[in-house]
Amino acid sequence: MLKVAFLGANGKMGRAMMEGVAAESDIAVVGAMDLIGVGSAVAAVDGLKIDGDMEAMIRKTDPDIVVDFTSPSAVKENVMKVLALKKHLVVGTTGLGAADLKEIDEAARAAERVVFVAPNFALGAVLMMDFAARAARYFPNVEVIELHHDQKKDAPSGTAVKTLEMMAAEREKIRQGQADEIEKIPGSRGGEYEGMRVHSVRLPGYVAHQEVIFGGKGQTLTIRHDSMSRESFIAGLNLAIRSIADQTPGLVYGLENIL
Ligand SMILES: NC(=O)c1ccc[n+]([C@@H]2O[C@H](COP(=O)([O-])OP(=O)(O)OC[C@H]3O[C@@H](n4cnc5c(N)ncnc54)[C@H](O)[C@@H]3O)[C@@H](O)[C@H]2O)c1
Repeated sequence: MLKVAFLGANGKMGRAMMEGVAAESDIAVVGAMDLIGVGSAVAAVDGLKIDGDMEAMIRKTDPDIVVDFTSPSAVKENVMKVLALKKHLVVGTTGLGAADLKEIDEAARAAERVVFVAPNFALGAVLMMDFAARAARYFPNVEVIELHHDQKKDAPSGTAVKTLEMMAAEREKIRQGQADEIEKIPGSRGGEYEGMRVHSVRLPGYVAHQEVIFGGKGQTLTIRHDSMSRESFIAGLNLAIRSIADQTPGLVYGLENIL
């Protein structure tokens, strides 16, 4: 039985993922921690309560793996603290940049532990990124529109960043649009990554959605993925948890590494 503990246990993802993980017969949720809701019961696990002290919770429950669904501002410090306690991690929290990932990789190797970071645990989203990277070879003109619920803190989404990175690795770098275009409202053309444009929509009602639109002469190609509910992330998270034992120490970045 694999023992896991959750950080961010009172959050939207924390609660939904604990339910999905606890339903598996080979994985047990032994610990839960958050800064809010401390002392309240974890609905998915009989007798488990949310702890407010991360290090004490980990020492007490001795999990094999710590799962982090906290916030972009907290995740890196959490990862470093958990590595110091010699635990493996699966991280779903977004917002880690390339420099953070490099530092995490070094710290994980030094601690001889695995840190599995996936900006998106939905299988369909991983396929969308893969298809987009392939299409970018033939269609270098591309814009990404990602749409999320209005409580999301980081923009663009981790999935959008990963999609742009994967397309940049395949795509001929070009400047898109008119060289002398004018933004009448600042930001109208969105963010820019290696010449590609990215737009973040934040509205109540959405969960997590992304469209990658390619334009060529006389044609467009749209690749779209929709997570209709947080259930879409459960299977990928369970895969990542089970894969930890097969990884070599260091950073694993992206669910595609184990598909
Ligand atoms: N990888 C994926 O597939 C995937 C899917 C959806 C969301 N996410 C990401 O997961 C993260 C959480 O999303 P959410 O919608 O659950 O957010 P949320 O705000 O509902 O929950 C975050 C929780 O983390 C807690 N928290 C903040 N700092 C903490 C700390 N230092 N220690 C412990 N707990 C702390 C907050 O109190 C809150 O309860 C975001 O970064 C989001 O982008 C990832």
